[in-house]
Amino acid sequence: MAVLGKLFRATAFRLTLVYLLIFIVFAVSLLGYFALNTRRLITEQITTTINTEISGLSEQYSQGGIRRLVIVVDLRSRRPGSSLYLVTTATGEGLAGNVGSLQPGVLDHPGWLETNYRRLEAPEGSEHRALVQVVQLPGGFRLLVGRDLEERERIFGIIANAGQWSLALVVVLGLAGGFFVSRRVLNRIDAMTETAQTIMAGDLAGRLPVAGTGDELDRLADHLNAMLERIEALMRGLKEVSDNIAHDLKTPLTRLRNRCEEALRGKANVAEYRATLESTIAESDDLIRTFDALLMIARAESGQARDNIAEFDAASIARDVGELYEPLAEQKGLELKVEAPSPSPVRGNRELVSQALANLVDNAIKYAKPNGAAIDGVNGAPAEIVVKAGSEGDRITLTVADRGPGIPETDRGRVIERFVRLEQSRSEPGSGLGLSLASAVARLHGGELKLEDNQPGLRSTIALPRAGPAAGTG
Ligand SMILES: Nc1ncnc2c1ncn2[C@@H]1O[C@H](COP(=O)(O)OP(=O)(O)OP(=O)(O)O)[C@@H](O)[C@H]1O
Ligand SMILES: [Mg+2]
Repeated sequence: MAVLGKLFRATAFRLTLVYLLIFIVFAVSLLGYFALNTRRLITEQITTTINTEISGLSEQYSQGGIRRLVIVVDLRSRRPGSSLYLVTTATGEGLAGNVGSLQPGVLDHPGWLETNYRRLEAPEGSEHRALVQVVQLPGGFRLLVGRDLEERERIFGIIANAGQWSLALVVVLGLAGGFFVSRRVLNRIDAMTETAQTIMAGDLAGRLPVAGTGDELDRLADHLNAMLERIEALMRGLKEVSDNIAHDLKTPLTRLRNRCEEALRGKANVAEYRATLESTIAESDDLIRTFDALLMIARAESGQARDNIAEFDAASIARDVGELYEPLAEQKGLELKVEAPSPSPVRGNRELVSQALANLVDNAIKYAKPNGAAIDGVNGAPAEIVVKAGSEGDRITLTVADRGPGIPETDRGRVIERFVRLEQSRSEPGSGLGLSLASAVARLHGGELKLEDNQPGLRSTIALPRAGPAAGTG
């Protein structure tokens, strides 16, 4: 019974009921209209026939008097059919016709009338209804011409009967259909609810069943599945981050702690304490920087950084970052060139984009050393780093190109992940977060970070959608 209750509460079933009701009202009015019109048509036909007969008989009377009328009426009365005739004297005495009895007073009122009658030869009690017209002939005689209405009532009855049956059929079929459809829908929703419950119980890999019919339930299931996919990816990302943090921050923290412990254990003097404290502060600063970078990446990835959105010139960022890093590059014996000739409008978070570009320049300076194992420029020329703001189709590009060892093609995918550093770079300070942030910032702005071969060296590009009227409002 609970199942039946659920079925009656189902939206699909209620909709069926409403449609059924509307259909019934429609069918009843249509059938009613049809039946009434048929009846009216038949009546109209009868009236015309009677009118013609009356005018014919009146003419017979005016030409041949009552004698002729009686003969003609007598003749016609004998023909089989549903026609009725009666000729009486002024006092109501029958002269000719096939009417046995009438309702009293019918002959006293000339004109149209529906009345009960009995045929002359018909047995007592077999009364029918008829539509008759009574006329008073000059000379006091009365003439009645009419038609039996049985036929009309029969047709009307057939229509009414057919109507009743078809309505009954519609109701039964409609209810059965509604029942069937609602049960199907309910079954699918039950299956969805069940899956949702297992997902809530912690099984994030569960997906809602899709019937493959492409209907609205399927679309809903598809969207919810896509949402689950995204949630699962986010959860996986979150887990990765926390695993990374646990793993990669634990080492420097342990190192820090051990160094302090060592300093306390030995018979150190003030100068040694001082040195330990200084290195502790330096390493703490590194840790704070790592935390800051992680937070910034999280902010970019979650979309929170969308708050500080404004239009700005990427070319000015290239110039600012170039200016900021020039002294450092010079110190390392590198030449830093900035090429940002034309304005490059971008909509976004200026601070984040600056940081992303700074990370790329920082990498170039760190890893593209002019001396040592790295390539010493082309044809002995000083190794140079080029920071460029330009455009590529409807995108603004910020490119940093160096002449260092570059990143092997197989590693270009994974260096973007958090905390990934290549073996060759272990001698340089860093936590492996710079490219992760640059990539997260590019994606936040609807763009991408590309790492390419600069032959030799690395060319890293942040491509962002161009702002302005051409880019539309979205
Ligand atoms: N210009 C480059 N030339 C050669 N290798 C590079 C270059 N840029 C990045 N890499 C490699 O990619 C790795 C990841 O770079 P990323 O900027 O993410 O981290 P990092 O520079 O090691 O540390 P952080 O930027 O957090 O201080 C680097 O460790 C290095 O191995
Ligand atoms: Mg870096």
